Amino acid sequence: MNRDPELKILITKRKIAATLKRLADEVRRDYSEKTPLLIGILKGSFVFMADLVRQLDFPLEIDFIRLSSYSGTQSSGQITLVHELPTSILNRHVLIVEDIVDTGLTTTFLCNYIRQKGPASLKLCSLIDKPSRRKIPVDIDYLGLSIPNLFIVGYGVDYNEKYRNLPEICVIGEE
Ligand code: IMP
Repeated sequence: MNRDPELKILITKRKIAATLKRLADEVRRDYSEKTPLLIGILKGSFVFMADLVRQLDFPLEIDFIRLSSYSGTQSSGQITLVHELPTSILNRHVLIVEDIVDTGLTTTFLCNYIRQKGPASLKLCSLIDKPSRRKIPVDIDYLGLSIPNLFIVGYGVDYNEKYRNLPEICVIGEE
């Protein structure tokens, strides 16, 4: 694939695969008897969700919710619900599947929203954590990798809707 010269690989395909395997093992251990509902946050989590569920060999359901907080490389700080959840959450074991926890605003908003709908349990799985950017504390129950304050793209994650199709996670622009 032709790459923009500004992009540098931060997390290789191999490292992503190993991280996924570990996360899938942890999720399987806790959820294999619970028929969980995995809720991916669009659009960034679509690749991660697709790879994760194909490693989970037990009954589960998935849904997606669309929130938006980013424009370019800056979070607007305003979280909006773009696409409602059609699935009932009442008494379900819900696992939120997120690409990146950055300021924590998005996951906090979503956890509060889901909690109001009466789930049996609620946990969070995120592929990437950027702890130095946090504005609200967030407990990540299943965490892939922590990275410093870098703007990343690829593996579902975008910059102005581009680069979601890169198979690696790359750094774009300045630190
Ligand atoms: P938060 O609300 O600040 O935690 O932001 C979470 C969302 O911001 C993630 O789901 C991403 O969609 C987006 N985001 C955070 N960091 C990056 C990044 O480095 N590249 C692209 N999107 C990002």
